[in-house]
Amino acid sequence: MTEAPEIVLGIETSCDETAAALLLKGNRLLSNVISSQVDIHAEYGGIVPEIASRKHVESIDFVVKKALKQAGLAFKDVNGIAVTQGPGLVGSLVVGLSYAKACALSAGKPLTGVNHIHAHLMACFLERETTPGFPFVGLVVSGGHTSLYRVDGFFHVELLGSTRDDAAGEAFDKVAKILGLPYPGGPVISRLAEQGNKEAFRFPRARLPETPLDFSFSGLKTAVLQAVQKIKASGQKLVIEDVCASFQEAVIDVLVTKTIEAAKQHHVSQVVAAGGVASNMRLRERLAMECKREGLSLMVPRPLFCTDNAAMIALTGYHQLKEGMLLGPDADVFSRIAI
Ligand code: KG4
Ligand code: ZN
Repeated sequence: MTEAPEIVLGIETSCDETAAALLLKGNRLLSNVISSQVDIHAEYGGIVPEIASRKHVESIDFVVKKALKQAGLAFKDVNGIAVTQGPGLVGSLVVGLSYAKACALSAGKPLTGVNHIHAHLMACFLERETTPGFPFVGLVVSGGHTSLYRVDGFFHVELLGSTRDDAAGEAFDKVAKILGLPYPGGPVISRLAEQGNKEAFRFPRARLPETPLDFSFSGLKTAVLQAVQKIKASGQKLVIEDVCASFQEAVIDVLVTKTIEAAKQHHVSQVVAAGGVASNMRLRERLAMECKREGLSLMVPRPLFCTDNAAMIALTGYHQLKEGMLLGPDADVFSRIAI
């Protein structure tokens, strides 16, 4: 254990958001800047990794300086740096890690490498009024991951189940593409779903009885594709809102059922959800309803802390720096890893 760093600079570049945040004493957010490339990638219908890396190179210094300015701080005031080390797009991660290393080395500041999924799981501690205690069952639902964890402490995280194929966010993005909707699919599908009938289509819910806490969304995506093709071939009118509502409900049914099942199986009374898909209002509503029914308490960070951000990196990094978990100058990024 080393001295707790007073001010931590968090840096996030794992995908298509360049983000920086400053955190005081591990729980007071002083600034949280996010520069999104979403409009650029939307033109291509998804993230183009090479463009993402180049945009991070262009933005990162500006974003970090903006975060310092908003916090009313200078770089010399920073006591430790936390950077996303993985998983994510290698080219994007390398930009953040190289920048963070350069800052840390030149100024002699400690540097720690954060697992992006671990950070999503810990984002709930950014909400100071409603932080959960341990243990909790955590559902991480993002564009690249869908997993359930049992969390007994900041560094006591046990994987209970994960997706065998597509992540939930990926399913939203792929179904949006099928429907000719823009990238990213989650926000647009959830908006259209509000006007649709969730009973219009009965899409499959993969239960996986042998590993009931695992997920599978590729069959659902195929079922949507087949339903859309069938309607188009028959010359009937495709009500996109109904497809969106029925698809969204199928994803949410599975996420909610398995999360509650995990909490019951593990005799844990607190549930946390995180990651970009956890910003979905219907998922938040259904989780709240089902947790209440089962006598479980629920904590979902506000949408800003569910989608990619550097505040969660600074928070997780603060705990790592306190434990002396430092990165050396030869540290590399990792593209895939489960925790
Ligand atoms: O956590 P995140 O910002 O980045 C990753 O780590 O992947 O998650 C991005 C994913 C995308 O797939 C996006 O479509 C999905 O989160 N998403 C949503 C919503 N907002 C973002 N999915 C469903 N409903 C939403 N409101
Ligand atoms: Zn993420």
